[in-house]
Formats: sequence, C-alpha cells, structure tokens
Amino acid sequence: MSNELETRTALPDWLTAPALQPGRPGIEAFADARILVVDDQPANITLLEQILTQVGLRNLCTTTDSTAAADLFSQFQPDLVVLDLHMPVMDGFAVMAEIQRRLAPGTYLPILVITSDSRAATSRQALALGATDFVTRPLRVAEVLLRIRNLLETRSLHERLRERNAGLEAEVRRRTKRLAEAQTEALELLALAAEYRDDQTGRHTRRVGALAALIAREMGLSEQEAEQIRDAALLHDVGKVGVPDRILLKEGSISDAEREIMQRHTLIGMRILSRSAFPVMRLAAEIAASHHEWWDGSGYPRGLRGEEIPLAGRIVALADVYDSLTHARPYKRAWTQEEALAEIASGRGTHFDPRAVEAIFALHARGALPPAEPFEESGDPPYAGTPPLGWRRRAARLAARLFGRRA
Ligand SMILES: [Fe+2]
Repeated sequence: MSNELETRTALPDWLTAPALQPGRPGIEAFADARILVVDDQPANITLLEQILTQVGLRNLCTTTDSTAAADLFSQFQPDLVVLDLHMPVMDGFAVMAEIQRRLAPGTYLPILVITSDSRAATSRQALALGATDFVTRPLRVAEVLLRIRNLLETRSLHERLRERNAGLEAEVRRRTKRLAEAQTEALELLALAAEYRDDQTGRHTRRVGALAALIAREMGLSEQEAEQIRDAALLHDVGKVGVPDRILLKEGSISDAEREIMQRHTLIGMRILSRSAFPVMRLAAEIAASHHEWWDGSGYPRGLRGEEIPLAGRIVALADVYDSLTHARPYKRAWTQEEALAEIASGRGTHFDPRAVEAIFALHARGALPPAEPFEESGDPPYAGTPPLGWRRRAARLAARLFGRRA
C-alpha cells in the first residue's frame, strides 16, 4: 500500500477558518472527537496520526490488529472509525460487520474507508456494508481532512438531535406522569366529595381500591389492570351524591322505597362517570354500575348473573363487603377477619364470584389480607359489649342493609 501524500505542508486555510463557510464549524470544533483508526500497516497509522494531530484531532485510538478493532470500538466509543479494507485474518468488511452488530439502535457512526484498491466494485461493497465514505490512496490531505470534518459534523448533528429527542422524551414522560397524577388526584377528590357525608376521611374508598387491586393481582390480572381497578374503585359509590341525606344517613331500618332510592346510587354513578372518555373513568363507570350485582343474578341494578357482571365490578363487590364488615359503622362494630371471611365464604357462588373468593382466601393464607379494624377503636357503645355469638343473624341483617338484593 502506498503511504505517499500529495502534500505534507500548507494545510488549507479554510479548514480551520469557518468564516469562509458561514454557519459551518471548522475542523477545530471537533478537537474532542474520538477517532478509532484500524490499519494493519504501522506506517499508514503514523501518517494518519500526523495528519490528524496537525489540525488538533488528538483523541485517537489506533490498532494494527483488526481482530481487536471491535473490542476497541466498544471500549473507546469513537465518533468516527477510519478503516483499512485489506487486512490479514479479519478484513475491513468483517470489522465493519462486527461494529455494526455492536452499534446501539439509532446511533449514527461514520466509517471512513481508506484503501489503495480503487476498483468500483470494492468501493460499492464497502459503502453497501456500512461505510459512510471512501477515499483511495495516495491520500490527499485536504480531501481526507475535509471528509473527516464533514463526517464529524454529521455525527455531531446526529448526537445533538439524539440528545434533544431524549430530552423531549423525558419531558413527555414527566408531563404524562404529572397528567396521570392530576387525574388520580381529581378522581380521589371526586370520591372524597361523594363520601364526605358518611365518611369524611375517604379511607373506606382507598381501602376498597387497595384491596380490589390485591384481589385482581391474585386472580392473575396484570399490574397495570390492577392499578386501574385500584384507582377506578375509589369512585364505586360516587353516585351517593344523588341520594338524599335523610336516606343515606338514616339510622335503623329503611323502607323498601328508601332502599330503592339508595340503590339508585349505582346508576347515578354510572351516568356521571360514563361522560368521561378517560379509560379509568370508563372503568369506574362500569364498577359503579355493577358493584352491587350478585353472582347468582339477584343483585341490583340490572340483575346481571355470573360473568355477565364485569370482572372489575365482581372484584370491587367483594372488596367493598370485606372492608365494610371489618370496619365499624355507626350502627355496628368492626367484625373480625374470621367473621368477615366466614360471611364471604357463605356468599361464594351466590353473592360473590367463586374465583374472587378463592383469591381473597389465598391472600388471607399468605397473610396479605388487610386486618380488621382493632376492636377497641370501633368499640362504640352499645356494640362494644356485643358478644360474637349470634353474628350470623346480625350478618344477614347487615348484609341486607348494605349489600342487599334487588328491592
Ligand atoms: Fe355501593
């Protein structure tokens, strides 16, 4: 291979004088560029080093061993590869193929092939296999440097574009997260507004959401589906905004007419929530409409049966009952976990989806089921002293009031 240069002195002024090409940087702008040179001839490497260092490109990594080129590429992460084609053991084509294989997707890596083989077929093959540019020996310094500058400029533009895109993607992710947070917050506030008259803390809806997500995961739903159910379940009783205080807050038994009005909270909730196009709100509408349906078809408002009831509604129905039983209400103490689970077991296949019941028992077996409210906190007279005996009868009465079938 020939190493002659047409000229070794008097580098063209315009190479480092951007004023001659307004808007485009001179080669000095790329002084930090990392350049990997692979050539089996040490003299060729020395020559290229001289050319590059003369114009300030000193961040070089060179090798005469083409089999080491790909590893050097991975370690050095060059901005440009200058590659000889005809080398023993591993030629430039094979080096290019290996480098391409290791290149991260979307990366623009210029490869300048330098060879004394001037056949058209060779340059065509090199360009087809990933070479970005091609020069033949004997080298003309101005041409080599101009091509290197152009390649580094293109690489720099690509890198800037990539960084900008990465920045924009991060910004989109940040804003999407904020939007999702704002959506969840709006959802929680709406739920709190609905709960405000009979649960000013909103804790019941949060607990129902959390337990519904646990049951959903236990039933094999994906993490994303479980989270959607958790958020949407917050609004399962939002329709209570449409139930008059005299019925919602009434102590003691309620008439059939009052029960019928109470039961309308399912359809009111659905009507409110189905106005939204957001998937979580659509799911919330589905849950609001179906969380009082019974597996055997005797629930309300539509008397749906089995798998006609949306899965999220079946899950929330169970979570709602468990949480209501295990926490105190003005008219009852909190039931123990065992009492609540016994009640749930008795409703397997009538009130509840048997698979959901299996899931809650599996959670219990693993110790993952939320505990009942401590007795002393809910031991509000006259219920504090109520013995556990006879709880089945009370359960029936309570269930009729809370989760009763169609009036
Ligand atoms: Fe409800």
